[in-house]
Amino acid sequence: MSVRRLAPKELQPESFAFTAENLAWAQKEITKYPPGRQFSAVIAIMWRAQEQCGGWLPEAAIRTVADMLQMPHIRALEVATFYTMFQLNPVGKKAHVQVCGTTPCRLRGAGELIEVCKNRIHHDPFHLSADGDFSWEEVECAGACVNAPMVQIWKDTYEDLTPETLNKVLDGFASGNPPTPGPQNGRQHAAPMTGPTTLKSGGINVSPVDSNGPALTDNDAKRAGAAANVQERPAPKPPAADATEKNPP
Ligand code: FES
Repeated sequence: MSVRRLAPKELQPESFAFTAENLAWAQKEITKYPPGRQFSAVIAIMWRAQEQCGGWLPEAAIRTVADMLQMPHIRALEVATFYTMFQLNPVGKKAHVQVCGTTPCRLRGAGELIEVCKNRIHHDPFHLSADGDFSWEEVECAGACVNAPMVQIWKDTYEDLTPETLNKVLDGFASGNPPTPGPQNGRQHAAPMTGPTTLKSGGINVSPVDSNGPALTDNDAKRAGAAANVQERPAPKPPAADATEKNPP
């Protein structure tokens, strides 16, 4: 990870104040924590400050949040400079694209997504595009590996990307119509691309021997608490003349 420093003085606003709406929200957020533990709200409130500031966190905002939480400024600065979710320099007005570059996404084409960002936004991360609307950076795993490769833009993730679909996502942000977050290849959440592979028979356990057979009846369904591949079968009837019976009728 590169060294994370506050933006140079010439980019820093003189002061920061929450809007009335955000201030009310922040004050409510603080009440979630016990007396003396208010600083536990620091990440949530700094995130709101970042949103209010157009996606980055000026020093004045960090100090304001620290004062609200009665914590030393240095403690809030430590949080802001540690977590990469906080941007310490101005970012693109319409989108700051965080491209996951960790192994699963790399193996699924993250390198090509980074090329899109380099060609379309700026060759170097953390630089604004010529119109100031976009910026990008490479980040570590964002927790959506099952739908790799992916990017995060503001609060949302866009997954199952190709260079073409990433360009479409960026087109959406450029025109003010961001696409629906999530997979961009039509799959539902993290469901298999080839369609359902389990519970194909009406939601009842399917025998591993014949997973393509007809749906099981309730009588065939597994016994509650049994292993998933164990089916409840009718109790065997005793033989007509069971020699083991001590008192035959
Ligand atoms: S490796 Fe990319 S989201 Fe986890």
